Amino acid sequence: MNATITATARYLPDRVLTNFDLEKMVDTSDEWIRSRTGISERRLVAEGEATSDMCAEVVNRLLEKSGKQPEDIDLIIVATITPDMLVVATAAIVQDKVGATNAWGFDLTAACSGFLYGLETGSKLVESGQYKNVIVIGADAMSSIIDYTDRNTCVIFGDGAGGVLLEPTKSDGGVLDSMLFADGSGRDSLKVHAGGSLHPASKDTVENRMHYVQQDGKTVFKFAVKNMADVSEKILKKNGYTGQDLALFIPHQANLRIINAAASRCNLSDEQVLINIEKYGNTTAGTIPIGLDEAVETGRIKKDDLVLLSAFGGGFTWGSVLLRWTES
Ligand SMILES: CC(C)(COP(=O)(O)OP(=O)(O)OC[C@H]1O[C@@H](n2cnc3c(N)ncnc32)[C@H](O)[C@@H]1OP(=O)(O)O)[C@@H](O)C(=O)NCCC(=O)NCCS
Repeated sequence: MNATITATARYLPDRVLTNFDLEKMVDTSDEWIRSRTGISERRLVAEGEATSDMCAEVVNRLLEKSGKQPEDIDLIIVATITPDMLVVATAAIVQDKVGATNAWGFDLTAACSGFLYGLETGSKLVESGQYKNVIVIGADAMSSIIDYTDRNTCVIFGDGAGGVLLEPTKSDGGVLDSMLFADGSGRDSLKVHAGGSLHPASKDTVENRMHYVQQDGKTVFKFAVKNMADVSEKILKKNGYTGQDLALFIPHQANLRIINAAASRCNLSDEQVLINIEKYGNTTAGTIPIGLDEAVETGRIKKDDLVLLSAFGGGFTWGSVLLRWTES
């Protein structure tokens, strides 16, 4: 039995932060941001709006699209690095907010690869035969951990959420394969240093801005260019496909130059690559499910299409998931 995606949904907060807004906040320019990253604007949550609120919107939209009831949900997986709080799990808060009275759930931390880790986990649980309606969400309110005086990071990230409903299918389509990796030796290149057991929150950690994302952009860039391209090429080859077989490649949206490097390694045309980074920036675990929902909505994915999802992120983490679309 395979697992397949039977519904997709996304939620982007209304508030827009443009490159021109950022010009007034840090020493940067619209021209620099667009040419180095491909980003024009990003969305930010409203004051008091948390990751669980974005996730609850996604779940409600998934229920509406699939015609399911909250009680039908068996499991909610929330991939995020910006949980509402350290304890309790955002998934539990979402379970309560949507009234999923029969569901269990947990959060999963793998930064920008989080959604793919969640998709693999959810799929395997569906394939086990024990769970029939599994929701996997990638959601991040990055504005809660971004230092808006640090031009190295604040131009890149935005807030947003997307998710999918996974169900069993007797067809041989659905989630076909995955290749996922982690290499924690890269942990100093992209991190939020404090607020965990290593550096619990203190006056010093706050004063030293250790609760914000810190990033060595060049190292992350080099890592991403190599590894997202490698894993995308490898999973196609492993399954006997080439780039020509792909209807759509949905890469993590972190930097247009990184996306282009992976697309060119797989010999893909522009039409085969989903790019929405200009509108949302890097929403971390949100980018891939947001892109997937946009692609379904705009008819870029149809029944029987081969779709490749690839990501990389802090940790380091990276990987790909290959899908055969089963919905019409
Ligand atoms: C962060 C990133 C956009 C920087 O782009 P880059 O081309 O590597 O730029 P560099 O770091 O080499 O900096 C080039 C110059 O621009 C400056 N600069 C950096 N950020 C800037 C900004 N926001 N605005 C204007 N200038 C900036 C640098 O200070 C540097 O100036 P210098 O040449 O005088 O020293 C790029 O490295 C990147 O995308 N890395 C990956 C990050 C990522 O994907 N993170 C998420 C992982 S999931």
